[in-house]
Amino acid sequence: MSQDTVMDLRKFVVPEIIIGTDARLLIHRYLTHFNSKRPMIVTDRGVKNQPWFLELESLIQSNSEDMIIFDDVTPNPRDYEAMMGAEIFLSHDCDLLIAIGGGSPIDCAKCISIVSTNGGHILNYEGVDEIKLPGPPLICIPSTSGTSADISQFAIIQDSQESVKRAIISKKVVPDLALIDPIPLMTMDKYLTACTGMDALTHAIEAFVSNAHSPLTDVHALEAISLIYNNINKAMEENRTLDTMYQMLLGSLQAGLAFSNASLGAVHAMAHSLGGLLDLPHGECNSILLEHVIALNYETEIERYKAIAKQLDIPIQHLTDDAIRNELLLKIHNMREKLNIPSFLQVDTLTSEIIDRLVVNAQNDPCMVTNPRILSTKELKNIYEQILRV
Ligand SMILES: [Fe+2]
Repeated sequence: MSQDTVMDLRKFVVPEIIIGTDARLLIHRYLTHFNSKRPMIVTDRGVKNQPWFLELESLIQSNSEDMIIFDDVTPNPRDYEAMMGAEIFLSHDCDLLIAIGGGSPIDCAKCISIVSTNGGHILNYEGVDEIKLPGPPLICIPSTSGTSADISQFAIIQDSQESVKRAIISKKVVPDLALIDPIPLMTMDKYLTACTGMDALTHAIEAFVSNAHSPLTDVHALEAISLIYNNINKAMEENRTLDTMYQMLLGSLQAGLAFSNASLGAVHAMAHSLGGLLDLPHGECNSILLEHVIALNYETEIERYKAIAKQLDIPIQHLTDDAIRNELLLKIHNMREKLNIPSFLQVDTLTSEIIDRLVVNAQNDPCMVTNPRILSTKELKNIYEQILRV
């Protein structure tokens, strides 16, 4: 162990986690455990129509005196959606939050929790450790294998006035319980499977090369890379199995344990900027950005990227550092291509002002702080110019 590692203080925060088939059905036990009478479900309309959701809804209903469903959550959830949710939570005297869905409903539920307990406006809590009081119990049931919002210290919310995504980072947004179940994933749309899987891979890679990594996060990051790499193509098959989706969930969970505690890097900073200004999907942005950022970061963290390459079955012992770099970039490129994720994002209009705003917003994103090297304005601009097309 190096002297640097010995001297660096590192924190590792995790919620209670239950993972396995039918984990979601344990919800009724936890409603009793938390003595909840009036839970509020936070979800979106796509999830609400899934057959497994209806089963879950009736289970929650039969174990509560009253129940509210808040489904006004859009992809890239907005500040006003969280404020509306908090108002409904308080006016119905709710006592517990259940977030069911992908990252958007879970992040929105975290924001509802913050405002319902601490008051004020959600954007007042942007940044690290700005929340004073812990919120009501929060239980998460994820329906994708990607965001890890169900276990993370992050809540990302859209500032609707400024068109910027704001990151709220605090252990007070770590959920109380994550019920991680492969059953809801069986009906997940293929493209969403691809994009959320690549998002999870990005979490693991960025956490592993982050300036804030630690031995506790490294072990999870490396295992996540391997799990996602070995299962993502099988998850895209028509006859995907429960075991494959379980492995994807496990990979996503391990990536989440890593990034929640080591933070992320330039891929996420740039993706947040794209999502905020142009309302583009998070997983798709990350999938497209990943190879560009690795190309710039590689020289700064060669040994760490070699360890990543090894997890991706690249025979590093027979290759020079330069050759490993090229193989790693090719591997990520080929993974994206095989998943039918394009190499660029289509936008309605593209001006130099838009590119400049994207660059500034990415530079101000908290995830940029832990990227292994500082990317110049020119480098960020070049990437955006390469990946955006009218
Ligand atoms: Fe992400």
